Amino acid sequence: ITALSTLTAACGSGSDSGSASRNAEKLTFRNPLRIPPLLQPERDKNGVRKFALTMQQGRTGILPGVQTATWGFNGTFLGPTLRAARGDTVQMAVTNRLGEAGTVHWHGMRLPARMDGGPHQQIEPGATWTPQWTIDQPAATSWYHPHPHGSTAAHVYRGLAGMFIVDDDERPELPSEYGVDDIPLILQDKKFARDGASFSGDPLKGTFGILGDHILVNGTYDPFLRVRTERVRFRILNGSNARMYHVGFADRRRFHVVGNDAGLLAAPVTVDRLSLTPGERAEIVVAFTAGEQVVLRSFGGDADIDEGDLDLLKIVAASRLESSPAVPGRLADLTPIQPPPGARVRRFRLNGHDAINGREMDMTRIDEVVPAGAVEIWEIENNVYAHNFHIHEVAFRVLDVKGSPPPAYASGHKDTVYVPSKSTVRLAVQFGHHTDPASPYMYHCHILRHEDSGMMGQFVIVQPGTEHQVPRTIHGGH
Ligand code: C2O
Ligand code: CU
Ligand code: CU
Repeated sequence: ITALSTLTAACGSGSDSGSASRNAEKLTFRNPLRIPPLLQPERDKNGVRKFALTMQQGRTGILPGVQTATWGFNGTFLGPTLRAARGDTVQMAVTNRLGEAGTVHWHGMRLPARMDGGPHQQIEPGATWTPQWTIDQPAATSWYHPHPHGSTAAHVYRGLAGMFIVDDDERPELPSEYGVDDIPLILQDKKFARDGASFSGDPLKGTFGILGDHILVNGTYDPFLRVRTERVRFRILNGSNARMYHVGFADRRRFHVVGNDAGLLAAPVTVDRLSLTPGERAEIVVAFTAGEQVVLRSFGGDADIDEGDLDLLKIVAASRLESSPAVPGRLADLTPIQPPPGARVRRFRLNGHDAINGREMDMTRIDEVVPAGAVEIWEIENNVYAHNFHIHEVAFRVLDVKGSPPPAYASGHKDTVYVPSKSTVRLAVQFGHHTDPASPYMYHCHILRHEDSGMMGQFVIVQPGTEHQVPRTIHGGH
């Protein structure tokens, strides 16, 4: 078991040091893991599922004996889990009670740009935004979070984030009872002010913003989880501002990876560790034996954003476990995303922490125009420290990292990818069919400090053949 106190000192690099962190003590796993509630939609007479989300401020008990100022959806911290199936028409009524403008982006959703919740879909204080779309994508673990340009890091850090589970008819026999054997794990790192009454640290300072010394899982500090089935599926979301996790178990047990960001893998892949940068998700299935206890841990690496071994969660198996089906050998009909011969190649150079191809994000500038349905090769070149890359609306396959294929567990459909320092990552990107020459989608580094300071660009999807007619300047917010 790792002493978190050793990390307090180790956490300085790149992160803000203006505020003292509370003395982090060794974890004792005394708090039951919070499971975000499933938000029940209302169904209107047309069958539209209406979800109501309110962004608000509040105080939350996270550390013992103190209330911390936090933000949340429909509560004081984080948000409920949304769940919908392929074919459902959903409507989100998002009300902003923050006292400042915000947005809510559906990260991983393939939908029209005006529903996407990026920086252009600003929700003024007191206003309600009601995007509606029909879900048309494979089962996946997606999520939602604010995206107001320049304030995303602060809004997410204060607690605005939630999971969004998509189901479809292709249902391999995997643990699937939410909160019982299908468990969300939202990983976030925080720093606390000395008195614990607020989070500390400036998410826009230093090279990476926040690297916290307190790890929260679903907003729970020092958590444990009791399980009562032989196998459990965990949907792991890295909801941190900057930190990268290398997730495994203290006893190095092996487990199955069954899904990446954008859906299930074709077949399970057995590993003892997997890496997630901010915004990435993985679905895993882990086997337990009756009466055992094991710690889920992040193992430190050498990337500046993954310092130190960090205990995440203790899992306590009941003395008698209900049986679970074995993990099926085939999970999904996954056609690998294949660029056609002569596919368009676009190159993106990540500069410092605030530009792509030498340009800072400009909300009035369209950087790329993509024909609907295209499969393109996007080449991301990073000559500096760690970054990652997220593209809205799409699913992509990682072709190679520094010329080598990605690990098998990360070979499925994704929307966010780690771009290690001094490396080039090539992606085969499948674009959708929602055309709108006037509403851009975003691509950006998901280290929120970088995204906020301009490491982001905008693309539109248009009718094939109309690319050259598209205005490259649009009306944008700031
Ligand atoms: Cu998760 Cu553009 O974001
Ligand atoms: Cu996104
Ligand atoms: Cu970055």
